[in-house]
Amino acid sequence: MSQPPAKPDLVTVNIDGKEIAVPKGTNVIEAARLVGVDVPHYCYHPKLAIVGNCRMCLVEMGLPAVDPATKQPVIDPANGKQKINWMPRPQIGCGTNAMAGLHIRTNTPQIKDCREGVMEFLLINHPLDCPICDQAGECKLQEQATGYGRGYSRFIEQKNVKPKRTQLGPRVTLDDERCVLCSRCIRFSKDVAKDDVLGFTDRGSYSTLSCYPGKQLANNYSLNTVDICPVGALTSTDFRFKMRVWFLKQTNSIDTESSVGVNTVVWSREGQIYRITPRRNDEVNDTWIADSARVLYKQVRDDSRLTTIQVNGQPAELDAAISAAAEFLKVGNVAIVGSGRSSVEEQFLTKKIADAIKASTQIVARAAEGDKLLISADRNPNTRGALVTGLISKLPSAQLTELAAAIDAGKVTTVLAINEDLAAAGLSAEQLDKVKIVYVGTQSNPTSAAAQVVVPTHTVFEKNGTFINQQFRLQKSQTAVPGVAGTVNDSVVLTQLLAAVGGNKLASDIATLWNALSAEIKSLAGLSFAAISETGVVLSSTEFASLAFPEGETLHFKPAAKP
Ligand code: SF4
Ligand code: FES
Repeated sequence: MSQPPAKPDLVTVNIDGKEIAVPKGTNVIEAARLVGVDVPHYCYHPKLAIVGNCRMCLVEMGLPAVDPATKQPVIDPANGKQKINWMPRPQIGCGTNAMAGLHIRTNTPQIKDCREGVMEFLLINHPLDCPICDQAGECKLQEQATGYGRGYSRFIEQKNVKPKRTQLGPRVTLDDERCVLCSRCIRFSKDVAKDDVLGFTDRGSYSTLSCYPGKQLANNYSLNTVDICPVGALTSTDFRFKMRVWFLKQTNSIDTESSVGVNTVVWSREGQIYRITPRRNDEVNDTWIADSARVLYKQVRDDSRLTTIQVNGQPAELDAAISAAAEFLKVGNVAIVGSGRSSVEEQFLTKKIADAIKASTQIVARAAEGDKLLISADRNPNTRGALVTGLISKLPSAQLTELAAAIDAGKVTTVLAINEDLAAAGLSAEQLDKVKIVYVGTQSNPTSAAAQVVVPTHTVFEKNGTFINQQFRLQKSQTAVPGVAGTVNDSVVLTQLLAAVGGNKLASDIATLWNALSAEIKSLAGLSFAAISETGVVLSSTEFASLAFPEGETLHFKPAAKP
């Protein structure tokens, strides 16, 4: 049994007169946040090394006075309390960690003056191009100029002109005159992405962010520099000038490109997705995401998207397609190819269909080398879901060799394929011709082309669902945009198919499905979709401890030691 985490060593600090107990070593900016005090900052980032170069986080600091001779507290006769020895000059909050008795003042005239001075220096060479800057709406410089600036400029000289629209790499554009030299992008590239490509050239007002000679910011994590750039210096070449961020709706979702299950926010407007950014989860992805995860939404409007229900190659209504599919499935000798990309709810319904018609079930493995950061070796986001729901009982293979043999032997005459291309999983065109195929999925492929019944379904962005990542963490993804015309929610298709083949009659809404899931699956007992927190719920994995999962180490995951 794993040991509960050790209790943190708490210390009491005083911030603007409010006392709070925080774990020893908590950064002063974070400690202040806990009592609702904002310490403005640029270079500090909770997941990056501290460098202390912007000086925006200046605060007054003091410690309780102790008589050096007697080691006794020095009492202030004015109030009868222990005197505080305030340091004569302000200190950077980001470079200080909480210690017992630490006193912080963030709202004194001295600190106000310091912040106004720092803002004035930062704005000296910053262009006043907020109306046309792509960072508007999420620019820390703009927000803090309002909150902590002087409100006017005394600078009448010519501003520096720096490089415009520099392509640092295939996905990141730099407008250098907006850079406040916080070095977050440099530290991220070097320390997190392990790709030391960025640095400053020249000194003082002429400092310029640049790639090292002959190098590019081209790694698969390059767009995180855009997220953490506090100003509009680094922008996404794909997203810039497409949409003002305040017009966009934000929906919490999950990256489905591997079993890491990176937490994401999907930004959309009027049914169209514009970008995907990371959502902080300190147990899964910190505040990072791979560039490859940011473009997954392009699948929604890709040319390969299926948008017409078909029976025998002809457009059909859903009822007709369900009836036709049920006729094939009820004959017997059916194999179901489910998917490690489907949600827990869909896998649960798939298993129920299999039980109702006594069909064999399998999913297709999708293994590739992990990057040791946020892409794991299992490129299915929900292999664990298939295990937990009982859709599979052993780890899958990439090739459906057993199914191919069963088709050749005439033991399988119908295949229900759910979001998997049977051809890509090793079935030949002749084998596809030998069986009746019901295809339920989002994109066209050789399987949908060979299928007698095709039902186009929703992508992960168009529906609610849950996924179980490599840590057995159950996480939810929510509907960001409505399904494109002609497609049907997978749960609707599967519940109707289940009823049509004689299985239970279940409503397809997520709350009802979770009633069934929590009642029937032991490790999900007591859970509901609404009750799953935004950072997920870790399930027991004991039942699957003997399986040799393919994942290696990633950011917050270490595979169990091999026996
Ligand atoms: S480009 Fe942005 S993140 Fe990089 S140093 Fe300049 S302000 Fe900081
Ligand atoms: S945030 Fe502390 S010096 Fe920049």
